[in-house]
Amino acid sequence: MLGGQPIIILRENVERNRGLEAQRSNIAAAKAIASAVRTTLGPRGMDKMLVSGTGDVTITNDGVTILQDIAVQHPGAKMVIEVAKAQDDEVGDGTTTAVVLVGSLMEKAEGLLVKKIHPTVIGQGYRMGMEKALEILDELSITIDPYDRDTLVKIADTAMTGKSIESVKHKLDGIVVDAVMTVAEKKDGGVIVDEDNILIKKQTGETMDDAELVSGIVLDKTRISDDMPKKVAGARIALVASPMEIKKTQVKAKIHISSREQISAFSDQERATLKKFADAVIDSGANVLLCQKGIADAVAYYLAHGGVLAVEDVPEKDMKFAALALNAEIVNKAEDLNKENLGFADLVEQPENAEILKISGCENPKAVTILLRGSTDYLLDELERAVVDGTRVVMDVMEDRKVLVGGGAVETELLMKIHEYASSVGGRVQLAIEAYAKSFEVIPETLAENSGFNPLDKLVDLKNAHSKGKKNAGLNVFTGKIVDMLKEGVVEPHRSKRQSIQSSAEAAILLIRVDDMMITRETGKMPGME
Ligand SMILES: Nc1ncnc2c1ncn2[C@@H]1O[C@H](COP(=O)(O)OP(=O)(O)O)[C@@H](O)[C@H]1O
Ligand SMILES: [Mg+2]
Repeated sequence: MLGGQPIIILRENVERNRGLEAQRSNIAAAKAIASAVRTTLGPRGMDKMLVSGTGDVTITNDGVTILQDIAVQHPGAKMVIEVAKAQDDEVGDGTTTAVVLVGSLMEKAEGLLVKKIHPTVIGQGYRMGMEKALEILDELSITIDPYDRDTLVKIADTAMTGKSIESVKHKLDGIVVDAVMTVAEKKDGGVIVDEDNILIKKQTGETMDDAELVSGIVLDKTRISDDMPKKVAGARIALVASPMEIKKTQVKAKIHISSREQISAFSDQERATLKKFADAVIDSGANVLLCQKGIADAVAYYLAHGGVLAVEDVPEKDMKFAALALNAEIVNKAEDLNKENLGFADLVEQPENAEILKISGCENPKAVTILLRGSTDYLLDELERAVVDGTRVVMDVMEDRKVLVGGGAVETELLMKIHEYASSVGGRVQLAIEAYAKSFEVIPETLAENSGFNPLDKLVDLKNAHSKGKKNAGLNVFTGKIVDMLKEGVVEPHRSKRQSIQSSAEAAILLIRVDDMMITRETGKMPGME
């Protein structure tokens, strides 16, 4: 600053919004984003159809998918979308909730600004309210045994309701929970789960009911020769990283070798080398081979005659995953193979009419595959999103061991308790804390509205139940009755609510404090500039 006056030189292409105008603009943007997703909230929420510039269609109920797909320009709106992304990264569920909460917090802030309450005071009140909310959340949380399968199934079920997959949800619940429980590892008195150890594969053509959990891996590969078996029971599987071919042969690389005479087209020395590759595999006792690189036709010929089912050019990622699933070791060269580094599976099979290789029935796998089937790509994609949400919440709960009830019960408890707390604070900041408390109303209200019930009536009913000490009272979105959500089995990870409360408040506080926005527009090259 020079002499008290700030000197700001802005380029012509910078648009500037100041004071109330900047605040209004951010509030409007946050509300617009929230209203774009709020109709999808809850089991009876509606789906959205998104059409991209290139005409690709997505039909989804998933908050973060909707937000990632719609192009927004407004910086305030972008921040709200960041909240959804953070929620998705940290938790895997609760994205709509987080965004709807930011919208509500901004709307309540608007009311406070009109009453001439300074943004700093609003920020302070919101922060105090958030801290109180997190405290209450801890008190409300229910500790569970991480291996309590029944509860884990309920967690998966709550996260997967409302997607257009209702008919197979119960089957998927079990698949998801068993997948996570299989790959979960006990460590330092706790449980950790690595998401990367669960692979989700999609296959079009069959019905959704055919979804299955494969204790092993599904590769997008087929056997390299028709002379190889299509099915190997009691599989002993070799994993080889190097190519099984000779770099320069005198024979054209791509002739198909099907008879002994053609083999003799190779020089004796080449033939010996190629046969050695195949023999190394067969001698190790393997009857299935996954090779990360190419396998020469001659080698394939010898392997087929040895009864070995082989696939080539398996991506490195899949090789590593197979090693985990099979408890096997990837050897560099075929000659390093022995009984110890092979993996075992009940069955390796190339199903009829499918370009896949399914390796199933691995013993104690550290990695598993969820194989989804469906008639269309839209359905498969939504199915995948639901399964991803389901696996993520089950992981969260196995790691944290803490759950909370859903159906608006926690939000009702929060809004009442925080309101009570506000009155103990006093001053202007009390108004901000009260507004913070009130912003939670949006969750039970929206759940009611999306289910065709009167939001105000349901909110009153909920408050009445909670004032009688019924902490778990929530809305049954199918009957409209206020019921005990724990008994209904509507449970969610503690992590999900914690994250949505924290990130929504932080985003709102940040946005309210902005009173000067400078937006540079892309204008291309300025005349006269290089
Ligand atoms: N069976 C149910 N009954 C009542 N509420 C439910 C039920 N299942 C889920 N909910 C509620 O729906 C909300 C989550 O909706 P959802 O559309 O999955 O959005 P999000 O993206 O926030 O996860 C939560 O408030 C949750 O408690
Ligand atoms: Mg959800």
